[in-house]
Amino acid sequence: MGQMDGMVAIVTGASRGLGRAIARAYAGEGASVVISARRQSPTGLAGTLEETATAIRNAGGDVLAIDCDVTDEAQVNEMVRQAMQRYGKIDVLFNNAGAMVLGESIMEIDANRWEQLMRVNVTGPMATDPNQGGGVLYSASKAAVHMFSYCLAEEVRDHNIAVNILSPGGLRSEGSAAIPWTQRDWHERVDPSALGPCAVYLALQDATTFTGQLASRFDFGTTWGPGVR
Ligand SMILES: NC(=O)c1ccc[n+]([C@@H]2O[C@H](COP(=O)([O-])OP(=O)(O)OC[C@H]3O[C@@H](n4cnc5c(N)ncnc54)[C@H](OP(=O)(O)O)[C@@H]3O)[C@@H](O)[C@H]2O)c1
Repeated sequence: MGQMDGMVAIVTGASRGLGRAIARAYAGEGASVVISARRQSPTGLAGTLEETATAIRNAGGDVLAIDCDVTDEAQVNEMVRQAMQRYGKIDVLFNNAGAMVLGESIMEIDANRWEQLMRVNVTGPMATDPNQGGGVLYSASKAAVHMFSYCLAEEVRDHNIAVNILSPGGLRSEGSAAIPWTQRDWHERVDPSALGPCAVYLALQDATTFTGQLASRFDFGTTWGPGVR
C-alpha cells in the first residue's frame, strides 16, 4: 500500500532535477502522476520528460507526460484538460517549474530580463493554480511566489485545500550544476530525491492539518512533518 494510492498529482518541471525526483516519489507511493515540461528545453541541460516517464513506467508507476510551458496559459489549460480527461480529478499540484539563472548583478538586469524570469517563476505557478552571487531577480521572484502562496492558502481554505511552500535548500540538480558558484557549496547540497518524503507529506495535507506554511527541508521532522503537531 502506498501513501498516495488513488491520488492524482501534477508535477511541473519534471524533466530533471527536483520535479523529476518528486514525480518519481509520488508514483512510488502509488499516485498517478501527470508530468510536464517544455516541448523543447532552451536550457541545453540533460533530462527530458520522456526519460522521466520511462523511469516511472519501468518502476511500475502510472504516468501521463504532457508538453507544457507554464508561461503559456493556453498550454496550462490544455494540460489540466488532458489530466481531467484521463483521471477525472487532480488531488495535488507540485508547482515546481522554475528558472534558476543566478549570478547576475542588479546592474545587469533590464526590464526584458525581469519580465522573462517573473513569467516563469511567478506567472507560471499562478497560471497552474488556481542570494548568493547576485540572485536579486531570482530571490524577488521567489518572494513574490511565497506571498502568492500565502494568499492562495487563505483564498482556498474554505474548499479544504492546503497550499504550502516547500523550501528545498541547496540541491544537486542539473540546474544547480550549471551555475558556477554552486560549486562552492556543492558538498552541502543534497540529491533532489532527498525531498521525496517532504513532498509526499505535503501532498497528504488539507486545510485542517497544515496550510499556509513555508516548509523548510531542514525543519522536516522537527517543526513540521509526520508526528509533529
Ligand atoms: N536547485 C536548488 O538548489 C534549488 C533551491 C531552492 C529552490 N529551487 C527551486 O526548485 C525548482 C526546481 O529546481 P531544479 O534545481 O530542479 O531546477 P532545474 O534542474 O533547472 O529544472 C527545472 C525544471 O523546470 C522546467 N522548466 C523551466 N522553465 C519552464 C517553463 N517555462 N515551463 C515548463 N517547465 C519549465 C525545466 O524543464 P525544461 O527546461 O525541460 O522545460 C526543468 O524540468 C525551481 O523552482 C527552483 O527555483 C531549487
